Amino acid sequence: MTKYILVTGGLGFIGSHVCVELINNGYEIVIIDNLCNSKLKVINNIKSLTNMNNITFYNRDVCDSLDEIFCGFDIYAVIHLAGLKSVSESVKNPVEYYRNNLESTINLLSAMNKHKCKRLIFSSSATVYGSNIAPLHEDMEIGKGITNPYGQTKFMIERMLKDQTIADPTFKIISLRYFNPIGAHPSGKLGEDPNDIPNNLMPYILKVAHKNNVDPYMEGYDELSIFGNTYNTSDGTCLRDYIHVCDLARGHLLALQKINNFDTYEYFNLGQGKGYSVLEIVKCFMSVNKVLLPYSIKDKRPGDLETVYCDTKKSKSLLEFETKLDINTMCKDAWNFQKKNQT
Ligand code: WQD
Repeated sequence: MTKYILVTGGLGFIGSHVCVELINNGYEIVIIDNLCNSKLKVINNIKSLTNMNNITFYNRDVCDSLDEIFCGFDIYAVIHLAGLKSVSESVKNPVEYYRNNLESTINLLSAMNKHKCKRLIFSSSATVYGSNIAPLHEDMEIGKGITNPYGQTKFMIERMLKDQTIADPTFKIISLRYFNPIGAHPSGKLGEDPNDIPNNLMPYILKVAHKNNVDPYMEGYDELSIFGNTYNTSDGTCLRDYIHVCDLARGHLLALQKINNFDTYEYFNLGQGKGYSVLEIVKCFMSVNKVLLPYSIKDKRPGDLETVYCDTKKSKSLLEFETKLDINTMCKDAWNFQKKNQT
């Protein structure tokens, strides 16, 4: 009987790239996604990038019953990416974030217990490190100084997953702590396409670049606001560890391939191990893509950390994970996606 990988949130920015990586490495997948921040057409793009016409998709919330899926398919492992992910929205609507992100994971774990499916890879975030000082490494205590409910949900879920493996050591669970995923599939068929006004840097850059280079009649997006230039960094703007979404997707494949090597609960950073400033990203985007990108310096954004980048030693030695794609490629692929998906 065929073994399947269940991918929750499989039509989202990261999920869609993970699905392509899995299928192109011989895995059969089942996708569940409620389309709250993704589009149905993504499934056709996954099909065309994998020459796989037959992908099972459930338009469903992970908070709803999962019995039909676990009964219908022999699920070897779950990659759990579904979740709400806007920091600012989570501050405005904390209960919705706690409810959705925790309830969906609780429901998924209950179903996995019931159906004896015991391998799980979870999409965690660098935000669990809170106010620890970079380079952030996996041995650091997590949870202190997290500034928003979104980050708290990731921290609480990690704790819950660890407890599950303590209660049942036959469970194998890996949390992958993403740094700042940007870029897009080089084909231009998959990328970040948020349903609302973007908060994160690269999706906002794409809108501003579109307005100023492609469609001057587009509403808003005249310029990028850079949030603060008096940080203690080389040019005064914040440093982040940007990772190409295709590298990130490969990290999931490696975690899946190696999951049986690990005892119970494990956690790994997925980042380049190097910080780039906001201004470096802006300048790189302009020069690689030969476009205009107007910007102005604004007040600091509350809750922003000055410098965030990871220590890569653990993921390098145990997952054999190393990033291959640089910030030039991230900026080029992101703009290519934007140009091919203008709305
Ligand atoms: C990057 C830098 C901003 C927008 C968050 C989550 C994290 C992760 C990714 C989530 C910062 C600056 C941004 C803008 C700007 N996971 N900026 N103008 O805040 O590092 O991390 O998203 O899904 O968990 O916390 O990412 O892209 O929002 O910001 O100057 O219009 O760009 O101040 O320095 P962040 P970001």
